[in-house]
Amino acid sequence: MIPDRMLKELNQQINEELYSMYIYEAMAADLEYEGYRGMATWLRVQAREEKIHADIFYNFITERQTHLELDAIAKPPKEWESPLEVFRAAYAHEQHITGRINHMVKVAQETGDNASWKMLQWFVEEQVEEEANTSEAVQQLEIAGDQAQAVLMLDREMGTRVFAVPPTAPYYPKPGQPTGP
Ligand code: FEO
Repeated sequence: MIPDRMLKELNQQINEELYSMYIYEAMAADLEYEGYRGMATWLRVQAREEKIHADIFYNFITERQTHLELDAIAKPPKEWESPLEVFRAAYAHEQHITGRINHMVKVAQETGDNASWKMLQWFVEEQVEEEANTSEAVQQLEIAGDQAQAVLMLDREMGTRVFAVPPTAPYYPKPGQPTGP
């Protein structure tokens, strides 16, 4: 069984990861509407990764014979001022998620829950990449500035991102569980 305090945090993290998926879908929809199809593709790939993050917590909790309780997902914003503002918001969101992961590592230590601590180490590394990816997009959009041609080149480049299941993801998939499309 998972200690109650730890379980509360893990449950909340499913919600945080599903909200991450949802806000990146919202950002993609906004950029798609504005004509930035490449960046929209990049964000939709990111949204699919967030679903995998949620699935890892889901699988981990159910694997430990614990009754999972799902909460409502908050409504994300509909629009942002510019592609730069989208990626600034994405970077800030990833920093928030890093804070959540660090907090959970602390709770795992305090409750002596070694299994949670070990599983969370994958997310500690993953967050380094998540922050790097979004801050790089911010940096490149800042460099491009008002030059439409540079922004469109970046849009094309970001549109080449393809989805792949992270090969090292813990508790994913569960044995016998499909990985989905
Ligand atoms: Fe699941 Fe982007 O953190």
